[in-house]
Amino acid sequence: MNPSQHTDAGTSRLRRTPALRSLVRETTLHPSQLIEPIFVAHRDEDAGDIPSMPGVRRERLADVGERARAIADLGIGGILLFGVPDRKDAEGSGAWQDDGVVPQAVARVREAVGDRPAIITDVCLCQYTDHGHCGVTGPHGLDIHESVARYAETAVSHARAGADVVAPSGMIDGTVAHMRDALNQARLERTAILAYSAKYASAFYGPFRDAACSTPAFGDRRAHQMDPANAREAVREALQDIREGADAVMVKPAGMYLDVVRAIRDAQPGVPLAAYQVSGEYAMLHSAIRHGWLDERGAVTESLLSIRRAGADMVITYFASRAARWLAGGSA
Ligand code: PBG
Repeated sequence: MNPSQHTDAGTSRLRRTPALRSLVRETTLHPSQLIEPIFVAHRDEDAGDIPSMPGVRRERLADVGERARAIADLGIGGILLFGVPDRKDAEGSGAWQDDGVVPQAVARVREAVGDRPAIITDVCLCQYTDHGHCGVTGPHGLDIHESVARYAETAVSHARAGADVVAPSGMIDGTVAHMRDALNQARLERTAILAYSAKYASAFYGPFRDAACSTPAFGDRRAHQMDPANAREAVREALQDIREGADAVMVKPAGMYLDVVRAIRDAQPGVPLAAYQVSGEYAMLHSAIRHGWLDERGAVTESLLSIRRAGADMVITYFASRAARWLAGGSA
């Protein structure tokens, strides 16, 4: 064979038309793979716009069903509910009340949309504690034993209200095992657990803490959330949560941690994997878009596709509704 023939072997011929490009596309982005976070305020006066997250609102309980219907109409796969409670105390006792803000929101969403989108609830105490930490605090920081017990109770209250999936976000050791036991004992075996396995102590949660009113009054979360310097440890965290009974695991934030998404995907090919494009990622994209420095559709779609390409099955994103509208209008 003449060697010059090899130099003619290009790959760009299959990029020439949209049809050819879609035939060789390796990664898909579909609304059913997206999860939209929704903040729900127990008191009407806490509802409204969130200054640090333009375009994202805290909903009134009365409006959450309608909001879920709009999300359902876009074909989005899931919603992730966060509660903004009517009161805070040292223990965070608002979190596990059967008539708390999240169980009420779950019931309303279920009534409005049936079983699509899937209802996922965030299980953490930080919105409910007056100190803003993710668990019950003791003389040596977080009291792991107490906190894990409260997480389990909170998950049971959400599951009883009808949540499909509960997602513990506190990164406290042993949470998943305790939660699974508590759910099973309450005859809630059907409720799945999505573990925030690799949740980093990230600077990119700032805008969310405004939205959920959960900035710690003192200290930070570095003693229990992961060190941004570590990736191998994330694989170990995911494995531990899977052993404890997690049905799916998560990496958070997403965009700066694509190597971690890929590492978990490669180490655990069979485990459903979520990645959370967090509030700071939203804020960065949104502000550049608003200034006209980035094209909204192009930049957002690329960011979501990249998270999928790294190995995530599902992407939690504040852009879910917007992206779903574009995806309905044409391929990504
Ligand atoms: C804790 C929680 C946080 C986020 C989701 N769940 C904040 C934190 O750990 O401080 C952040 C989400 C985001 O930034 O979009 N309940």
